Amino acid sequence: MQEYPNYKQLINLRALLLLFCVNLFYSQITLTQYLRDYAKVLNLNFGSPTQGLKPQMQDSLSNNFNFTIPGNSLKFNMVEPKQGKFDFRYADSVVDFAEKHGMKVKGHCLIWHWSEPGWLWYYSVHGHPTREGMLKIMKTHIDSVVGHFKGRINEWDLVNEAILDKPDAQGSCLKNTHWRSIIGPDYIDSAFVFAHRADPKAYLYLNDYSGEMNFPQEKVKADMIYEFVKGLVKRGIPIHGVGLESHINNIADEFAIYLNIKRYAELGIRVAMTETDIMHSSFSPIAWTAMLNAAVANYNFTTFVVWGMTDQYSWKGRDCDCLMWDVNFKRKPSVFKAVITALEKADKKVAELRGRFQAIPADDRRPETPDSLSASNEGKRIILKWGSSKKALTYAVERATTLDGPYKVIENEIIDTSYTDKHVKKGIIYYYKILAVNPFAVSQDSKEISISY
Ligand code: XIL
Repeated sequence: MQEYPNYKQLINLRALLLLFCVNLFYSQITLTQYLRDYAKVLNLNFGSPTQGLKPQMQDSLSNNFNFTIPGNSLKFNMVEPKQGKFDFRYADSVVDFAEKHGMKVKGHCLIWHWSEPGWLWYYSVHGHPTREGMLKIMKTHIDSVVGHFKGRINEWDLVNEAILDKPDAQGSCLKNTHWRSIIGPDYIDSAFVFAHRADPKAYLYLNDYSGEMNFPQEKVKADMIYEFVKGLVKRGIPIHGVGLESHINNIADEFAIYLNIKRYAELGIRVAMTETDIMHSSFSPIAWTAMLNAAVANYNFTTFVVWGMTDQYSWKGRDCDCLMWDVNFKRKPSVFKAVITALEKADKKVAELRGRFQAIPADDRRPETPDSLSASNEGKRIILKWGSSKKALTYAVERATTLDGPYKVIENEIIDTSYTDKHVKKGIIYYYKILAVNPFAVSQDSKEISISY
């Protein structure tokens, strides 16, 4: 007797068929460019750490990535294994390699309770620690490490995994690490201030996991990270970015992630995906596209980092199928296609804004005053043109009908350096000024120009 699949089996069969088709689509790829070429067009940092980097992967690293991290070598226990004795050898060699290949380097990570060296643990537990003593250890560490790489490493995961998954009984969002229990909850403020003083040009990040907001239970943590960062910004603490680690379990909620990144733009905060790996990658490459779609649709998304290249050396184990290269150091065509699909269709206007946003220095963020303003008539229109100003993201046009104002903003969020005013009447003299704008400040008014038609 013939057996028919039951309803449940049919659904499973259909799901399998769908996944098969998705996979078939994603596995058709001919790679004519390297990943970093796609990233360059989008003004995006695209990186991988050097964890487990074997000689056979070095070319793949420098060909595909414009950004790297010296493995685990800058974690506290690795870089300051004995108090006051620093070991920069491996990180120095990675920085040399990166400079040779036109890659940027990020330092990971200065303050993380998981990488506490033995001597620091001993001091914290048995050494009658004081707030001042602990702050001194923190300052010496940050000054030495950031200072050593000043001008060569220009971004740092400064504080790592400090936020709880949900608030504690007292309503605090901070993990009770030695840093927190001995110094107090303002230890993060101090870390940012120390690092900013050590290198005012470096971009400083708060990095954490489960803040991507792709599952309901993560929303609590994502919101806590956001509120905490907002508090730092409000208090004038020099934070520049948030790192979302992005260790994903194969499903990614594109729209939620998009919104989560976007809300940081209003704070002027950069967002990076800092340790991306996606379980069962070749089975569901769609998650890679979703992550990248969500990311590159935001101008304040600056950096995408995969947590290693080959599954062979993933911290999740060689069977994780969670990276872009398999255990045999071969590219996974379906995953490459998924990534490239997102990069290729990304909005170029957003990419232009990302480039401008990336170029705003960490220490001096006020846009320059626009100059070379000119005006001309074309029929019943007045056309304004001006030179691009440094550190501007967009421009605003102000108009008055009497010399020296009062001026009113008639258009803002202009991406180009020109504007056509169509709402003009014959015989009236119009006066215009231009402002340059970014999330941190508005420039001074440009010189005024007058015109009529
Ligand atoms: C992991 C590394 O991948 C391992 O090699 C190491 O043994 C432990 O740390 N969050 C982080 C990373 O911020 O530093 C961790 O990296 C993974 C979790």
